This record gives sequence, C-alpha cells and structure tokens, in this order.
Amino acid sequence: MTSDNDRRRGLLARLRRQRSVAPSRGRRRLGAAVRLIAALMLAGGAYAVFAPGAQAQDNPPLTGAAAEGKALFDVSCVSCHGRNAQGVEGRGPSLIGVGAASVEFQVSSGRMPMARQEAQAERKTPVFTDEQTRQLAQYIQELGGGPEVPEGDLRADANLATGGELFRINCSQCHAFGGGGGALSSGKYAPSLHPATDRQIYAAMLSGPQNMPVFGDNQITPEQKADIIAYIQETLKDDRDPGGFNLGRYGPSTEGVAIFLVGIVALVFASLWIAGKS
Ligand code: HEC
Ligand code: HEC
Repeated sequence: MTSDNDRRRGLLARLRRQRSVAPSRGRRRLGAAVRLIAALMLAGGAYAVFAPGAQAQDNPPLTGAAAEGKALFDVSCVSCHGRNAQGVEGRGPSLIGVGAASVEFQVSSGRMPMARQEAQAERKTPVFTDEQTRQLAQYIQELGGGPEVPEGDLRADANLATGGELFRINCSQCHAFGGGGGALSSGKYAPSLHPATDRQIYAAMLSGPQNMPVFGDNQITPEQKADIIAYIQETLKDDRDPGGFNLGRYGPSTEGVAIFLVGIVALVFASLWIAGKS
C-alpha cells in the first residue's frame, strides 16, 4: 500500500513538475510573440515615417513649368507616348532620357504631335507656342533627364571657315553641300536645313532625330556647334547661285553628270555636223 501510495505521489509530483514547467514555457513563448509583434509594429511605424520620403524620390514634385507641360502632354501626347512617357508598343517610343533638346526639336519644328503613323514625321506648322514647347520639354527633362540646348547666343564668336569644314565632314553626305537635303533609304530623307532656327540645329545635333546620328558634345564641342550653326545660317542660306542653275545643290557628282551629258550631246552634234559637211 505504501509503495502504491509512494508511486502515486511520485506520479503526481512528476505531473505537477511537468505542469509547473509547461506554463512557464508557454509564458516564454507568449513573451516572444509579444516582443515580435512589438518589433514588427515598430518597424512598420518606422516604415510609415520614412516611406513618403522614398516615394517622393521616385516621383519628385514637378516645377511649375513642367507641371504645365505635363498637362499639355496628357492631352496631346499620351495616346502615342503613354502615361509618364514610357512609350506605347507600335505607336510611339519611350521619351525617358531623350531630354529637353529632343522635345524642343520635335515640337518646335511641328513634327510632334504626329498626325498619323508615317515613315518619318514631317516638318509642319508648329501646334504649340514657344512657351508651351519649353513647358513640354521641361516636363520630359524632369521625368528622365537627357541633353538640353543651352541658353543664350548659339553662334557667338563663331568661325565660318571651321564651320564649313565641319559641315562638309559631318553633315553634307546627308544634307548635301548646299544644305538642300536629299533622299535616304526606305522612303526616308534628310530635309533641307533652310527653315531651321539656331536652336533647332543645335537640338538636332544633340538628339539625332530618325536616321541622323547624335553629335554629342564629345564628338562636336559646343564651340564647333556654334561654327556649324553660323556656317549654315550665314553662308549656306545666303548663297545666291552665282552660276545660275544650282542642280539641286547635290555637289560635284551631279555637276559632273550634268557637264558629261551636255558635253556628250555637244560632241554628238558636232560629229553629225562634220559628217554632214563632208
Ligand atoms: C500619332 C502618334 C504620336 C503623337 C500624338 C505624338 N508622337 Fe511623338 N513620336 C511618335 C513616333 C512614331 C515617333 C518616332 C518616329 C520619329 O521620330 O519620326 C515619335 C518621336 C518623338 C520624339 C523623339 C524621340 C527620340 O527618340 O528622340 C519626341 C521628343 C516626341 N515624339 C515628342 C512628342 C510630344 C511632346 C508629343 C505631344 C505634343 C508627341 N510626341 C505626340 C508618335 C507620336
Ligand atoms: C546620316 C544622315 C545625316 C547626317 C550625317 C546628318 N543629318 Fe541632319 N538629319 C538627317 C535626317 C534623316 C533628318 C530628319 C529627321 C526627322 O525628320 O525626324 C535630319 C534633320 C536635321 C535637321 C532638322 C531640319 C529641319 O527640318 O528643321 C537639322 C537642322 C539637321 N539635321 C542638321 C544636321 C547637322 C548640322 C549635321 C552635321 C553636324 C547633320 N544634320 C548630319 C540625317 C542626317
């Protein structure tokens, strides 16, 4: 009996011991959970405090001009270039990083907004005023950065002779020696430079529209750009064709062909005349 009682007491004692261990482990778990939740809430609170700052860095507030530009963009350009100018598949490219120079070139020359899909956007009467163009450009600039046309006189202290040399090396193969333009492959063409303003010439060099290469400031320095602009505006546009016919101003090749044709015809008639005489 005593041994039986002893065994029971021993069992009870063990049970009690177990029970006395169990709640304390539970309490410890509970404590850990409470601490975890507290830590999570703290982290969440900290995130809530810092999150608006992080968001502001993704989407910085636009300046006044850029906000005006965004309003214009959302009406006239989103259909092809998409919300936030990230581009629309099959309609228009992304404008992130093209810079104010590209927008200024495209919008001030009336190429954008494009009326319909075509091989190459054409120069048209611009839809937007200078101020609106600057606002659109400012918006795209603040959105993704990129090259900008500098302010001020773009052909100060220019050297016309250097400009002519640079023009013949870099531009005449597409725009012709006289700047009259010429055809390129697949229905594209290099347009005449005659309607372009100083800022448009600068912007075209910086942004390289369509098939035109980009002439960044590393390839052609701002001083050399000034020389080229001065040459186009002051020499090419004032050329009066002292020879009479300019033959489209395509340069020595057309002139060679023309003189060859004229010469051959003259020789044929001369030999016919001589043959008729004898
Ligand atoms: C009908 C569609 C359409 C509309 C509307 C349109 N674009 Fe475009 N845009 C194009 C296409 C297509 C191209 C690329 C072809 C080209 O450069 O000729 C382009 C090219 C451009 C580029 C040159 C991008 C580069 O790589 O340098 C700029 C800048 C631009 N658009 C700005 C605008 C702005 C600003 C508007 C609104 C005022 C606008 N576009 C409206 C279709 C459109
Ligand atoms: C590989 C051929 C090529 C070369 C080289 C080239 N361009 Fe162009 N350029 C073009 C094409 C193509 C366009 C038309 C782009 C468009 O309509 O979107 C153009 C457009 C222009 C325009 C805009 C004309 C307008 O309608 O107002 C200017 C200005 C211009 N180029 C200047 C230059 C200058 C300056 C150089 C030399 C530094 C040069 N280009 C070299 C192909 C060329």
